[in-house]
Amino acid sequence: MSTFTVPTAREVFELLREDLVAVEQELGRDAASSVSTITEIAEYLREGGGKRIRPSLLLLAAHQLDYFGHSAIRLGAVVEMVHTATLVHDDIIDGAETRRGRPSANTTWGSEKCVLAGDWLYMQAFKVALEERNLRILDLLINLTQQMVEGELLQIQKLGKMVSEAEYYDLIFRKTACLFSISMRLGAVLASATEAEESALGAFGRAVGLTFQIVDDVLDLTATEEVLGKPVASDLREGKATLAVVHAADHGTAADRNAIRRVLDDRSFENVSRQQIREILERNGSVEYAMAAADRYAEQSRQALAPLAESEFKRALLWVPDFVVAREK
Ligand code: IPE
Ligand code: IPE
Ligand code: MG
Ligand code: MG
Repeated sequence: MSTFTVPTAREVFELLREDLVAVEQELGRDAASSVSTITEIAEYLREGGGKRIRPSLLLLAAHQLDYFGHSAIRLGAVVEMVHTATLVHDDIIDGAETRRGRPSANTTWGSEKCVLAGDWLYMQAFKVALEERNLRILDLLINLTQQMVEGELLQIQKLGKMVSEAEYYDLIFRKTACLFSISMRLGAVLASATEAEESALGAFGRAVGLTFQIVDDVLDLTATEEVLGKPVASDLREGKATLAVVHAADHGTAADRNAIRRVLDDRSFENVSRQQIREILERNGSVEYAMAAADRYAEQSRQALAPLAESEFKRALLWVPDFVVAREK
């Protein structure tokens, strides 16, 4: 990579290619249980692919600070397993039937087995993390897992209700951005980073994670299931108010507000159609508003890296917010 251009997706992938192959091998080893149903579910989840964005962040953080040892591979697998466990539980909670372009695990095996498979995966992640014999790592991972569970629980409490922007941001920090931030911090810990380095990388992860979830929520409103690989317009049907919807309720007419409240309350489009909601969002510029917020966090994430030395890994990190904002799935 030359020094002055923003790298392409291909260059970033090339930079991490061997690492990501090793992460896949580690995930394959970690998916094995003596109980065949667990192995089947864990294998199914692993094969389903996914962007592997969290391990990529961890690897880039570690490499940025000159750490190239095998622990970054292991912890890359750990953050991916934590992510997968939350997806398994999330799809059960949301009643989602597709994930990564195919039937969700709960659709194939049923919720009961998948709750347990999710628990097993969490513990498998901790078991692998324990091999590092580093309490700081466990401390970060335990806090993270509690934040994520608290986020999902707060979300359930808010279902069917309008939320404030502050509540929305608190939720998406816990359920998504916290894992991005901790992935970066884990990379920093492996590299024995200074406090300033770790907090710069953690701040980057937080801002990218917020960007990521804002965009995920916009895609739920604007994308198609074929492209996204998971259900669309599902947030409103599940009674979740996301940023664009919160904006429309705050800035729209009384009729707009009522229509939105009605969909959230009904958890369906039977009384107010998807088309009506689209019209309300469009008239209020609400999707643009949410994307502008995503752009601001993307910029904040780039700023967070300012104190770090220039390197090909930093340039790859700088590419991530662009990728997150422009992604289609
Ligand atoms: C999905 O995460 C869950 C959210 C935080 C929105 P990803 O979009 O990273 O899922 P995969 O791993 O690529 O499928
Ligand atoms: C994010 O919530 C999932 C987790 C962080 C567990 P969503 O419910 O919005 O995620 P998707 O849209 O199902 O991937
Ligand atoms: Mg969901
Ligand atoms: Mg979503």
